[in-house]
Amino acid sequence: MDKNIKIADSMLDLIGNIPLVRLNRIGKETGAEILVKPEFLNPSGSIKDRIAKMMIEDAEKSGVLKEGITIVEGTTGNTGTALAFVSAVKGYRFVAYTPKMVSNKSRMSIMLAYGAESEAIDIQDYNKKMGLDADDDSSVHGGHVELLPRQICLDLERQHDDIWWARQFSNPWNVGAHHDWTAKEILEQTDGKIDAFVASVGTGGTILGVARALKAHNPDIMIVGIEPAGKAMMGAPDEYPLIPGISDGIIPQIFNSKIVDRVISIHDSDAIDMAHQLTQKEGIFCGISSGANVLASTMIAKELGQGKRIVTVLPDSRDRYLEVEKYTT
Ligand SMILES: Cc1ncc(COP(=O)(O)O)c(C=O)c1O
Repeated sequence: MDKNIKIADSMLDLIGNIPLVRLNRIGKETGAEILVKPEFLNPSGSIKDRIAKMMIEDAEKSGVLKEGITIVEGTTGNTGTALAFVSAVKGYRFVAYTPKMVSNKSRMSIMLAYGAESEAIDIQDYNKKMGLDADDDSSVHGGHVELLPRQICLDLERQHDDIWWARQFSNPWNVGAHHDWTAKEILEQTDGKIDAFVASVGTGGTILGVARALKAHNPDIMIVGIEPAGKAMMGAPDEYPLIPGISDGIIPQIFNSKIVDRVISIHDSDAIDMAHQLTQKEGIFCGISSGANVLASTMIAKELGQGKRIVTVLPDSRDRYLEVEKYTT
């Protein structure tokens, strides 16, 4: 978002250009500075607006996406909402293929409000076919529950000329958006003075894109990846995999762990607790993965100490989780 815009051509012009906010109370005792990027200020409420715009506009440029084409994606969450938003502005039909057992009512309602359609996929049938526990809904994002919707999107795209699958897990603009856009903002806003960047990993787009740009600027910037204490993707010990938006066992095609210097496992209840603290101590109404990002940032701040600067993103807003009982108590 260009703060100097007086009349925007469309809501798409309001994506991005989000300032960094200094935490004044949380992590203060470490002596380090923690700066957060409240990406929930993007128009559809999450960091995924950046990738939705860039993936769609790249497909338009290459000619595979044009008037009359339907956009499809397998998604339960923020990417679906963001694709629904950008599709609404540009006049595309968007259909989200969503596993029945993990759909989050708030996020689905937002997607539908933008005019998107949704197809609920019966994962239980799929689990049975794959010899898995039929009721296994432990995988919130990125795990086997999302494989079927993705397979359906691939099949649809192969079978129909008028369908384009955004494929967030392998689309290079999922990384490119954060390399060319999110990271550029971070470098400009900090004059390149950063000691560590922290991000949770779902598709891997945020960490990979930002890390590549930051390392090109200064290879000494520490890149810290977060996974839920649970299914280890990058090597952290096993426990519970519950933080929405963070991957749980599938290594995304675009993820390259060599760029990550450190991996921190965060338990969902600690992430929720930090999200509460962010709301109550800093006035930041952010989601659960944001809590995880800030908690890990405080750990790094403690290690690096006085005078060091840690930057992280707050991917979405707390209003998406109000229906999750655990989060409201
Ligand atoms: C709430 C939330 N946090 C974190 C992430 C992880 O971001 P990325 O997919 O860029 O790794 C996602 C991705 O869907 C998300 O929805």
